[in-house]
Amino acid sequence: MLPNFVLVGFMGCGKTTVGRRLASITGHRFVDADELIVKDQKKSISAIFSEKGEEGFREIEERVIADLVGVAGIILSTGGGAILREANRISLKKIGIIIWLDAQPEVLFERAIRSGRRPLLQNENPRQVFDSLLESRRPIYESTADFRFDSTGIDHDEVSRKVLDLAMRQSREP
Ligand code: S3P
Repeated sequence: MLPNFVLVGFMGCGKTTVGRRLASITGHRFVDADELIVKDQKKSISAIFSEKGEEGFREIEERVIADLVGVAGIILSTGGGAILREANRISLKKIGIIIWLDAQPEVLFERAIRSGRRPLLQNENPRQVFDSLLESRRPIYESTADFRFDSTGIDHDEVSRKVLDLAMRQSREP
């Protein structure tokens, strides 16, 4: 059976869209960690951040991700900060092949800000916060993922096909 694939990467990198396409190509079930958190809490991500703070959100995120260890046949899309906790990094490695979806900062910022629903960017200076988060997280994506794919300038269908190809090669390596 095809292994699971896990998408990690910064807000705006296209994890959800690419994840859904990968699911439809592979026949795997698409699972979005943020959606599971929303269902679990019956509240939006923004409401969870404002009521419980970022640490409260991270606790729920860790539990939701840990619950997926051992589940087969999934494409998992994670929130941009899911790689911050070591417990999550360990769980994600157990879940499947980890793909870091990346893009140029300008592209990420434009997409991340567009929805207006990302609590970490709801502040006076979103660009500054974005830059410092990106800088601090890049090395963690790098060390956690099995490989990186830069999607700048490539449409989501092509990204999905190429990512699948690379992931399949990765899964065949000893
Ligand atoms: C977060 C990214 C969001 C969501 C939450 C925190 C982050 O997910 O989990 O707002 O810390 O980068 P997306 O990466 O899907 O936007």
